[in-house]
Order: sequence, then structure tokens, then C-alpha cells
Amino acid sequence: MQPLPLRVRLAAWYFVVLCLAFGAFSLFAFFEVRGSIQSAVDEGLRDRAADIRELLERQSSPEQVKHELAEGSSVRGEDDILQIEETHGEWVYSSVSALRYGLQLARPGKPGEKVEFSTMYSKGMPLRILNGQLQAADKMYDVQIAAPMDDFYEAVNRFRLVLLFSVPALLLVASAGGYWLSRKAVAPVGEIARAAQSISEHELSKRLPILQTGDELQSLSETSNEMFSRLESAFKRVTQFTADASHELRTPIALMRTRTEVALRKPRSEGEYKETIVRIHQESERTSALIENLMTLARADSGNEALQVTPTDLNEVFLEISEPAKLLAEGKSIHYQQRLAETPLRVSGNAPSLRRLFLILIDNAVKYTPPEGRISVALDASDGAAVTEIRDTGVGISPTDLPHIFERFYRADESRSRESGGTGLGLSIAKWIAEAHHGSISVVSKVGEGSVIRVQIPLVEDGP
Ligand SMILES: Nc1ncnc2c1ncn2[C@@H]1O[C@H](COP(=O)(O)OP(=O)(O)OP(=O)(O)O)[C@@H](O)[C@H]1O
Ligand SMILES: [Mg+2]
Repeated sequence: MQPLPLRVRLAAWYFVVLCLAFGAFSLFAFFEVRGSIQSAVDEGLRDRAADIRELLERQSSPEQVKHELAEGSSVRGEDDILQIEETHGEWVYSSVSALRYGLQLARPGKPGEKVEFSTMYSKGMPLRILNGQLQAADKMYDVQIAAPMDDFYEAVNRFRLVLLFSVPALLLVASAGGYWLSRKAVAPVGEIARAAQSISEHELSKRLPILQTGDELQSLSETSNEMFSRLESAFKRVTQFTADASHELRTPIALMRTRTEVALRKPRSEGEYKETIVRIHQESERTSALIENLMTLARADSGNEALQVTPTDLNEVFLEISEPAKLLAEGKSIHYQQRLAETPLRVSGNAPSLRRLFLILIDNAVKYTPPEGRISVALDASDGAAVTEIRDTGVGISPTDLPHIFERFYRADESRSRESGGTGLGLSIAKWIAEAHHGSISVVSKVGEGSVIRVQIPLVEDGP
């Protein structure tokens, strides 16, 4: 079953809470009103009993008492519902009303002053009755006084009717208000959802409307927009990468095609064919290297290439690459010098990737240093990290290029880089490898003087 819309659920909860609150209030008010009226009636009966005791004490003659009681009734204009009987005597008084309602005097089991209240119906009239025993002038009297409760019940009933009609009406009005409020509160969410739906891969620059509500909804729309910005730039990077990659692949393939076409245009000598084949071979090797680099970066982007790491000593990594590094440098008559650290530099690393990282940096140093230059590599431990510095006396990097050299396909000097076979991916890969080892890579360079590339990778604690 589909869940109800949020606004309906909110309103429903509001309704339930209101019902409970109003219900509890009505019950409390009803019983409180009824209880307090009843206490007032009981108090009146008690006062009346006290008056009667006073009368019994004051008048010694029973006839006088009867007379005064009858008098009192006629003065007040209404008859008491009253019966008095001497506990161990003959004397009895019953008012006219008491006889009319046929009240029976209840004699308490144990003698002693006390009063009890009860409620009963007599001849259709609800009566609140006080039964008690009084002591006056050394005699005990049983007394019964009653008060008609019809007016009181009518008032209580009226109050109940008021509650019965007004509470549902109030509930209805309040719930309608609650529904209206929750609709109003939830409406911006619908707006955000609609705007989000209209954002597609072709309209990634679109943004959600920023609600100036200053609440959670505003922060939701702002955070969503920040997320869209990140997605947009990631998407742009990917499309840019694809475009650059195809462009880079087109050039060597076009070169190979032109060379073959030229060679096939007319019969050639064996030497000419050989020359063509050697060139095509060079070009295809370069293309393979490019494809290999592209695949590395694509795998890095997909994020599922977790490097297999083992404790690795960077000194050993450099011992393994010193041979090819020297060969590279000698090929350009560059003096290569390498100083390893005195202690092992154990990092949690992937040896082939680390070899690749440092070869990329040495390859750059060789490529961008003129013959007879100097490259020096130094390894050290500092602040819990293995620090590798690769210093060259090459052409250097201008401050305008410096912020971009780690970007994919970025080459400071297009023509020179092309002739030296670069594609501008080396440093992007190096940076990715360093970061995959929780390390960092930084460059200090001066045009015409040379560059220092510094790689820092955290050391691991020595195992037991
Ligand atoms: N040691 C260096 N000295 C001077 N410039 C450098 C040095 N290292 C890198 N650069 C500059 O940074 C740019 C980017 O380097 P990167 O290694 O990413 O690409 P590349 O060497 O041109 O090509 P690739 O390494 O993919 O074959 C280079 O084109 C070069 O201009
Ligand atoms: Mg390079």
C-alpha cells in the first residue's frame, strides 16, 4: 500500500493529538464542575444540620421546636425536606415535603455524632440526603435533611451538552487549520522535487530555487544545489577527459595512416619501407603507452581500483628503478645521482605503482632538463613520512603553468612536449598514486633554474 502523503499524515497526527487533549480536558472539566457543585450542596446541608442542632439546644419544648421549624419554612417560602426523631424517645418531626417524598429515616447502627451523604431518586426527583445523629441538650436525635438536585442536574446536563457540541466543532476547525498549515509547510518540498525532476544530464547547470525560509528546507535546497554543482563539475571533467582522450588518440593514428598511404603510393626501396615500419612501430608504442595511461586514470576514476598494499621499503623501490633511471638520464647525457635514506622507509604501499610514480617523475626530470644537466634524488624520513625529493637543473615551470601541471593533458609547452612524446598525463597519474597511498606531491620550480618535486608518503609503524 502506498504511504499517505506527508501533509495528510501530519494533519492526521495533529488530529489524533487534539482529540486526546480535548477529550481529556472535557472529562476533567465535567467531573470538576459536577464535583464542586455537589460539594456546595453538601456544605449547605451540613450548615442546615448545624442550625437545627442550635434550635434543639435553644428550645426545650418539642412543640416549640416543631413550631419554629414550620415557621422557618414559611418564612423562607419553601419547605425543608427534613425529619427529626429523638433517638430513644417518642418525639418525631417530619416536614410536609419529607412526607411527600416518603423519606425513611435511616438510623445509624452505632450511636454517636456523625453525618453521611447519599443520593437517591424519589418520585422522580433526585435528592441529596444527609443522614446524621446530633446531640443537643443531652439528648440524641436522628436527623435527615435532603436537597432537591433537579436544578443541579439540569446545569450539569447543560454543561455536558455544551461540551458535546462545542468540542467536535472546535476539533473540526482546528484540524482544518492543521491540514492547511501542514500543506503550507510541505508545499516547498514539492516545489524542490519538481525542480529536481527537471534537472537532467543535458541541463546540469540548472539549480533548485533557493527558498528564503531560513529553515531546514532552505538548507536542503542549498545543500542539494551544492551537490548538483559537484555533479556538474564531475560530469564536465568526464566529458572533457573523453574529448581530450579521443583527440590524443586521433593524432598518432592519423600519423600512422599518412605514413602508410605515402609509402604505398608508389614502389619503394627496402630501406624506405623499413624506415616507414620503424616510424609506425614508434608511433604505435607511444599509442599503447597512451592507452595504458588512459586506462589507469579511468580505473582510478571509477573508484573500484583499490591498490593491494604491503609494507614496502621506499629505498628498495629506488634500488629497483635506479637502473632504468640511469639509462634514461645517460641517454641524454644527464648526470644522475641517488641518495637513499639511512633507515628503512617502510610505507604501506603497492610496489609496482610506487615504481611507476617515481619513474614518471624521473622521466619528466630527464625530459625537461637539457643535456649535461643534473638530476639528484634524495630520500629521507621526516615527521612520520617518507620524503622523496627529485631535483633537476632543467627548464623549470612558469608560475602560470604551475597550478595546472597536475591536470590531465596539461602541457606547459605544447610544441616541446609533443616533440618529447608527452601527452600530459604523467603527473595526473603520479598524483593519483601518491594520494592512493595517503600521501601528497608538491612542486617548487624556477624558470631556467630547475624544479624540485617532493613526494610525501606516511610511514608505517614497524611491526613486532
Ligand atoms: N621536471 C619538470 N621540469 C619542467 N617542467 C615540467 C617538469 N615536470 C613536468 N613539467 C611540466 O608539466 C607538464 C605536465 O607533465 P606531465 O608529466 O603530466 O605530462 P608530460 O610529461 O607532458 O606527458 P606524459 O608524462 O604524459 O608523457 C609537462 O608538459 C611539463 O610542461
Ligand atoms: Mg611526464
